[in-house]
Amino acid sequence: MTQNINKNKILVNIEIVRGDVSKSINYEYTKRSEEERPMALDVLMQAQNTTIPDLAFRYGCRARNCGVCTIDINDRPRVACRARVKNGDKLSAIATLPVLSDLVVRRDGIPRQLRGLKTTATGNDLNVEAPKEYHELTACIECYACLDKCPMHAKNFDKGITNKVMEDLPNPEDGYKYGNPFSLLKLERICLDPLTSDQGKEIAIQKAVDLGLESCIACPGCKCGVGIDLKGKVIKPILERAKDKL
Ligand code: SF4
Ligand code: SF4
Ligand code: FES
Repeated sequence: MTQNINKNKILVNIEIVRGDVSKSINYEYTKRSEEERPMALDVLMQAQNTTIPDLAFRYGCRARNCGVCTIDINDRPRVACRARVKNGDKLSAIATLPVLSDLVVRRDGIPRQLRGLKTTATGNDLNVEAPKEYHELTACIECYACLDKCPMHAKNFDKGITNKVMEDLPNPEDGYKYGNPFSLLKLERICLDPLTSDQGKEIAIQKAVDLGLESCIACPGCKCGVGIDLKGKVIKPILERAKDKL
């Protein structure tokens, strides 16, 4: 998997796509030891610290907690600080959101979908215990890996997103019209929250319908980047809650 270029350097060849494939470059990551199995984020950081100082990418916690480092590795979304790479791998911006620069995408169109949602609480009784399903959904790190292959999210980009031309894409500031597994997870979590009123649940369910929940009926399901059972714990229950509206 690795190439010994000389006695001192152990190199891993990685393709880094800077915005679009026409701007691909090859970077040779220098391993610190034969045993090292670098993460994608290690490669990007070393590239930026050495030969590509203007390389743009995002990271925060470096511990799979914040979700902002998500990129595509060989065209599949992965959390870069926890995804090992090997010789010949390709790193690029996630394909499901518009690229701002190199591996940085514009993420705000997703959280803005739920802006202004008023799911009024019934009180602030801290002794109310949330069900275990609620706690399972708090494992979401907002990495947006689940947008991959979601037909509902794809409807936001009627011309496709692959041209990456921001002017042709919906304005993220408005919040994307059609939903995605992450937004549905947030709405299901509102419904599971013991402090949410019945009216609040109704608002959350209606929001799921308005975001295009019907796309989920015939969809084989979505995959979470950190292993949350989206089909069983989000899609199925929210479809059941909304069955009279679909
Ligand atoms: S089940 Fe729904 S949210 Fe999940 S990928 Fe399919 S359309 Fe998207
Ligand atoms: S549901 Fe999973 S894949 Fe989607 S944003 Fe949350 S952690 Fe990431
Ligand atoms: S840097 Fe926070 S999840 Fe990777």
